[in-house]
Amino acid sequence: MDNGCIIVTGASRGIGAAIAYELALAGFEVGCLSRSGDLPALEGVAPEIANRWHAVKCDVSQAEQLEQAFDVVARRAGKPLVGLVNNAGIHSQGPIEQVSADEFRRVMDTNALSVLMASQTLYPHLLRNGAGMIVNIGSFYDKLGIKHHLAYCAAKAAVGAMTRCMAVEWAKKGIRVHNVAPGYIMTDFNRDAMQTGPLAAYLAKRIPAGLPGQAEDVARLVTSLFKLDSPFMTGETIYIDGAHGMLG
Ligand SMILES: NC(=O)c1ccc[n+]([C@@H]2O[C@H](COP(=O)([O-])OP(=O)(O)OC[C@H]3O[C@@H](n4cnc5c(N)ncnc54)[C@H](OP(=O)(O)O)[C@@H]3O)[C@@H](O)[C@H]2O)c1
Repeated sequence: MDNGCIIVTGASRGIGAAIAYELALAGFEVGCLSRSGDLPALEGVAPEIANRWHAVKCDVSQAEQLEQAFDVVARRAGKPLVGLVNNAGIHSQGPIEQVSADEFRRVMDTNALSVLMASQTLYPHLLRNGAGMIVNIGSFYDKLGIKHHLAYCAAKAAVGAMTRCMAVEWAKKGIRVHNVAPGYIMTDFNRDAMQTGPLAAYLAKRIPAGLPGQAEDVARLVTSLFKLDSPFMTGETIYIDGAHGMLG
């Protein structure tokens, strides 16, 4: 696993950018996929880290684009593809009676179908290596009933279910699959809302740990799974939510 290349989807910003940073810091080459094709939006990154990033434009809901992007990353990195982090995701909100079929499909395509298709794209690479790891980024909403979040909750529950099925079916091939499921995580995109105003007050009261997590918290957990590379650990959903999801 060491010294190989790991593909991170949705690596242009937020949690994906932090994961791309931590994996590069740990010595991996990193394929950074996103619709924009931008490099991770992080400041002050040392050249030896940034040189391990290979940014490619790719809409993860399109199988052909995934095939092409994985090939480009493998060529540019010059290292075998040993892992994948299915992080790209979109948010969607609205009362159930107004969720259109198109919106439901858009969320499922981006947050769930992409996990299947990207994992299928990586599979022949991992078979060739005889081992590998896939880490899916789910959400603690996968086990909750959240008002106005039906499509998102359904997609993240599907990510947990796919994680377990892949783990069981691919275990004998040496392929391990995990679902890292965050609670509220501060990113540049939502920092203002989470630090001030009514959401900040709600989160301070509601999260047992007292504060939302940081993208780096998730990134370090994901990277530690790749570093640990434990052959007997697979199929798990690991919540990183400050104990928020345990409240009654
Ligand atoms: N932040 C939280 O509190 C939180 C909590 C639980 C779970 N999560 C999950 O963590 C993951 C990352 O969340 P985040 O907060 O970091 O999100 P974010 O800041 O909105 O970033 C999303 C990333 O996904 C990319 N993306 C979106 N649609 C894509 C597509 N069709 N194809 C390729 N890339 C696409 C975006 O890049 P482009 O726009 O350049 O394509 C961007 O890099 C998501 O799966 C989210 O559901 C987040």
